[in-house]
Amino acid sequence: METKLVSVDNFLDNEKKYKQAVDILKNGGVVAFPTETVYGLGALATDQHAVQQIFEAKGRPSDNPLIVHIGNKEEVYNYVTGVNADAEKLMDTFWPGPLTLVFHKLPGIIAQNVTPGVETVGVRMPDHPVALGLLRALGKPLAAPSANRSGKPSPTEAAHVFKDLEGLIPLILDGGQTGVGVESTVLDMTSVPPTILRPGGTTQEMIESVIGNVIADSKSPGEQAPRSPGMKYLHYAPEAPVYIIDDDAQKIRSAIDALHAEGKKVALIGPDELDVPAVDWYFAIGPAGNSEAMATNLYGALRECDLTVADIILAVKTNLAGVGAAVMNRLMKAAEGKHYKD
Ligand code: TXA
Ligand code: MG
Repeated sequence: METKLVSVDNFLDNEKKYKQAVDILKNGGVVAFPTETVYGLGALATDQHAVQQIFEAKGRPSDNPLIVHIGNKEEVYNYVTGVNADAEKLMDTFWPGPLTLVFHKLPGIIAQNVTPGVETVGVRMPDHPVALGLLRALGKPLAAPSANRSGKPSPTEAAHVFKDLEGLIPLILDGGQTGVGVESTVLDMTSVPPTILRPGGTTQEMIESVIGNVIADSKSPGEQAPRSPGMKYLHYAPEAPVYIIDDDAQKIRSAIDALHAEGKKVALIGPDELDVPAVDWYFAIGPAGNSEAMATNLYGALRECDLTVADIILAVKTNLAGVGAAVMNRLMKAAEGKHYKD
């Protein structure tokens, strides 16, 4: 299958490009498109055969539920039940935006394989002109996971999607680099209080400022609530093993010296300010205090590690406040929980 890469900007001739995408989707195919978080791989959420193609293209385990994307807030009532006052406040405040809300599903509407093994469905309204343009042109909901091969870092550029899925999908809408850089926060609204199943672009602090306390495992990223099935698989992993290391230049320098003494080449992912000249490759992902910048650049850096011949990747611990919780959660997943021991 040839994979077309079509650039979609906000001004020129976009209707034709959306039509091309809509035709593929209506015929049961899949299309990759940008959202404000990461690129998604969409299929009609009401069409089981179409959804099946997402799992095939990604090599995704079939027991991992997909998020349903909508183009207007009110559509949520077509697919779910139990939208309470807190959920309404969250939708009013954060939609469109990087917040997925999990509700009980209305039976018989969303295809069964969108929500394997669960009675709930996660819904979100993305905050990106191309995602919204596509959803509104289609007039139907899109089931869409991140558009990477399963296990790889999520794509924040169309080129990342192309690298992973070339030959496996017919069309990628290229809307440039995504802004947020980590995925949406998944918030389970069926528990009291609601539970953060995956930390993401809408922070715990932001959510709590609107509805009060929520339950979160995000402060201990190694231990995820088992209710978000996707969190149990290997994720975001570059080819070389990743180890977490403290934000301590002296410790990092000794680690690099020790690894060099073993004949290993080292890539390092960390804040702009680090001073470790001996490292073989350094991917600076933003100023130490700026978790938003680090979120934006994290997956690109993990992918760039694959362009090196590093034997090991050291990733510097980040601050857990705000979106830092999501950054650290993804680093812990990429490292499978491993810390570098000196
Ligand atoms: O930002 C995002 O959320 C991106 C863009 C494309 O929208 N999508 C994304 O989808 O990250 P995916 O499939 O890569 O991750 C979805 C996560 C998984 O961890 C999955 O287990 C969880 O959300 N999830 C989805 N539906 C769920 C449900 N009904 N109950 C519990 N967890 C759910
Ligand atoms: Mg994903």
